[in-house]
Amino acid sequence: MRLRVRPVRRLAGVTRVPGDKSISHRSALFGAIAEGVTDVEGYLEAEDCLRTITAIEAMGAEVTRKGPGQFRIAGVGARGFAEPPDVVDCGNSGTTARLLVGVLAAQPFHTVLTGDASLRRRPMARVAEPLRRMGAAIDGRADGTRLPLSVRGARRVTAIEHVSAVASAQVKSAVLLAGLWADAPVTVREPAASRDHTERMLRTFGVRVASGDRTATVTPGRLRATSVRVPGDISSAAFMVVAGLLARDGGITLEDVGVNPTRTGILDALRAMGASLQTVVDPASLEGDVEPTAALEVAPSALRGTTVAGATIPRLIDEVPVLAVAALAADGVTEVRDAAELRVKESDRIAAVVRELGKMGARIEDRADGLVIRGPQRLRGAHVASGGDHRMAMALAVAGLVADGETLIEDAACIETSFPGFAAALNALAGGDAVTVEA
Ligand code: S3P
Repeated sequence: MRLRVRPVRRLAGVTRVPGDKSISHRSALFGAIAEGVTDVEGYLEAEDCLRTITAIEAMGAEVTRKGPGQFRIAGVGARGFAEPPDVVDCGNSGTTARLLVGVLAAQPFHTVLTGDASLRRRPMARVAEPLRRMGAAIDGRADGTRLPLSVRGARRVTAIEHVSAVASAQVKSAVLLAGLWADAPVTVREPAASRDHTERMLRTFGVRVASGDRTATVTPGRLRATSVRVPGDISSAAFMVVAGLLARDGGITLEDVGVNPTRTGILDALRAMGASLQTVVDPASLEGDVEPTAALEVAPSALRGTTVAGATIPRLIDEVPVLAVAALAADGVTEVRDAAELRVKESDRIAAVVRELGKMGARIEDRADGLVIRGPQRLRGAHVASGGDHRMAMALAVAGLVADGETLIEDAACIETSFPGFAAALNALAGGDAVTVEA
């Protein structure tokens, strides 16, 4: 499947984006290991999150689809998962694979996890190593560091304090989840704070989790079923936000977007670039451990360069490809530093940004851990490819909206992993066929 993108002058209207990917995965997995029935609303029905549902079903959880985005999960309880009859295929989803390894590390049976070609290239030592210390037997390709991984869970899970070399919510979550079955509290320390959806949601399931400065500690315990409302995904909203800022005319509002402070780095960066971007928070969403939500109001803006580095990086890591598109339109230098993690996402996003936006005429310098972009630069429509990476496909589509001439994006089916309806949502704002899907 490919996308044909035509330039547009005006984007206007009110829209919503699909449910948050990170929160959706957690709602299914936590619902599965809870006691009782968990109802989820706003679940992201995209390939990645459906992989998590298939995985928990393979281990005995009963999942019923009640309507669009509405799922009822009959939890099996702390000791209820059963050995799956076959290999569990996590597809393109790193979150499915890494969070699941954490839970499996504490299940007294054998599982094999695999994934697509991209996921099989991604590093797994970061989760396998601490989970082995907790007592799990984990092996796999490349000395047990790549999928397919085989996991035989520990019969007794040893508590650890894990100092993670990377700021990764997937690593943090894997260790905290195994910690639910441990013989004492388990702590994870990270070099910078990563998204805290696991900590918040475990609390709503009745588990004790203490959050400190770049640390989280879980007290072993059982989950009690609850109901979860998944807000719109800020990482999906980011494509619309940048498109709305770079349009010449109009103004867009994105309703019900999750604005957890561990995720809003992209909004901070765009505001530092001069974006007209208001966050209108829903006050009810600020209570307890519920995820905060807001309407984002975006108006066309003249942007200037900025620097993003350090503790901001984990707060916008998935948004760097589209931030690069904004930086190309901005006046002055934009630097992204401390973001070497981009090289081990669904693709090497530093290389992909330089290569694919380069085909559209952009000159971007790559660094081992980031990018340097000198703007403003005009883009021209070109024939580009996503490399199977959903966020690259969507960032290139946003670039196509502001380029001169048509852009053709090959290998765009991957958008389905996180943002079903992406083309239709953009077209609704453009009031016409800005993006067409071709077989
Ligand atoms: C995610 C964490 C991030 C992010 C990914 C989703 C999560 O990955 O890039 O899209 O749901 O925990 P890392 O934990 O590898 O940084």
